[in-house]
Amino acid sequence: MKHIVYRCDIRDRADTVVPSTEPWLPVVIESPLDALGQSGSLLRMTGVVPALRLMLRLCRHGRLFYYAADQGNWIHWGGITQGWCRYYRVGERAAVFGPVETAMAFRGRGVAPAVMRGAMRVLAGRGVHVFYVDTSELNLPMQHAASKAGFRDTGLRFDR
Ligand SMILES: CC(C)(COP(=O)(O)OP(=O)(O)OC[C@H]1O[C@@H](n2cnc3c(N)ncnc32)[C@H](O)[C@@H]1OP(=O)(O)O)[C@@H](O)C(=O)NCCC(=O)NCCS
Repeated sequence: MKHIVYRCDIRDRADTVVPSTEPWLPVVIESPLDALGQSGSLLRMTGVVPALRLMLRLCRHGRLFYYAADQGNWIHWGGITQGWCRYYRVGERAAVFGPVETAMAFRGRGVAPAVMRGAMRVLAGRGVHVFYVDTSELNLPMQHAASKAGFRDTGLRFDR
């Protein structure tokens, strides 16, 4: 299956910076310690096994996680890898989104673009300005969500 690679440099896209009034701001978890601090919410939202899996993932260098919740229930979550991607070359300071998911009941309401923009804004505060996301040529919802989050098709394709 061919995958499309999208890129966003938020320094070129002032509109990607989230106004503080935008709903669904993300919580960005950058380390197992952060996850411990959020363990109550994480356990309620995901259950024990996914929360433990997340902790393990965060132990690996350059792995982050973000989520947004509504009334105690997750509505969108995603992984972010910093500085590398298995499928294409990215800069040392770049971040790659994926996988990402919006809860079924919240799809089609602009949650993914809003929360991804929010996560980009948080990381921009730490000096990360270039972001990638990739998705299958068949995944129209993700293609639309990526465009609305400020990503542009790089023209690069890879098989996965
Ligand atoms: C891809 C995904 C994250 C988008 O999240 P979202 O919060 O629904 O994003 P948006 O609200 O911006 O909707 C994106 C597109 O989904 C489609 N869509 C609209 N309503 C929808 C619904 N009720 N259910 C599914 N898709 C819908 C539309 O094409 C929409 O784009 P448009 O508004 O420009 O027409 C979500 O569909 C999802 O979790 N899918 C399953 C997991 C997945 O494919 N992840 C991406 C892997 S890279």
